[in-house]
Amino acid sequence: MTIRKENSRQIDLKYHIKQYRNPYETTKQITSFLNKKINLKFKNFLDLGSGSGANLFYLKKKFKIADSFGVDNQPTLIKLAKKMMKNKNIKNIRFYLGNIEKLNKSANILKNKIDVVTILQVLSILDGYKKVINSAIKFNPKFIAVSSLFWDGYLDFKIRVDFLKKNKGGIVTSRYYNIYSIYKYLEYMKSKGYKKNYVKKLKFMKNLKLKDKKIMGSYTSNLNGKKVLITGPLIQSWYFIISKK
Ligand SMILES: C[S@@+](CC[C@H](N)C(=O)[O-])C[C@H]1O[C@@H](n2cnc3c(N)ncnc32)[C@H](O)[C@@H]1O
Repeated sequence: MTIRKENSRQIDLKYHIKQYRNPYETTKQITSFLNKKINLKFKNFLDLGSGSGANLFYLKKKFKIADSFGVDNQPTLIKLAKKMMKNKNIKNIRFYLGNIEKLNKSANILKNKIDVVTILQVLSILDGYKKVINSAIKFNPKFIAVSSLFWDGYLDFKIRVDFLKKNKGGIVTSRYYNIYSIYKYLEYMKSKGYKKNYVKKLKFMKNLKLKDKKIMGSYTSNLNGKKVLITGPLIQSWYFIISKK
């Protein structure tokens, strides 16, 4: 299935900038889980699909990570990430434009120099996870940590959302919201030498409201006494998985 890359006008810059001021609850939960399993201080990170770099910035500020790198394929976001680092006088986090499903040159240069590869909120929007995991493996990191939509069973869901124009207009853009089988993902990681895996389901603490529920915005609701995150027709089941060599 082919999917059109979002153009720079369709990027939600507010989503990216907001995180610098107010890191998301999910970022806090993920990084604290990560820090329980790995002492993050002085570790070298590579963040694939780094957006505007807010996650690396948070890791640097809160956990004092060492030289780290972010890669994204959106020039606008890489430009913004570089600008933010300059404004905040951070010199040891660098950002590069690249396709995370096809990393070769940087993998040669940085091989064995990365402790942790993070891939946060990215797998679900790709056609599948294998290409990007294979890219990550080329760096030979001890840990690969991902957050994504997963299903607690042997089912993979391929979900493509087409954003449509009224009347005679067609598709404006399309986006994946894929949900992957946790068990198949873990089998894949194990087959690649990442034998120890830690899985955590993310909790949604805050109430999120949304006026127009006909769009693909997110809001929380109660289901069987638990708070769930809903986007369009989907109940989002976010998991965090750390895989260790
Ligand atoms: C939902 S955002 C998540 C950004 C960031 N990781 C976070 O947690 O806020 C997904 C990011 O993946 C990037 N991305 C998607 N496909 C990519 C690809 N093939 N190569 C590089 N970056 C990609 C997008 O440009 C976007 O910045």
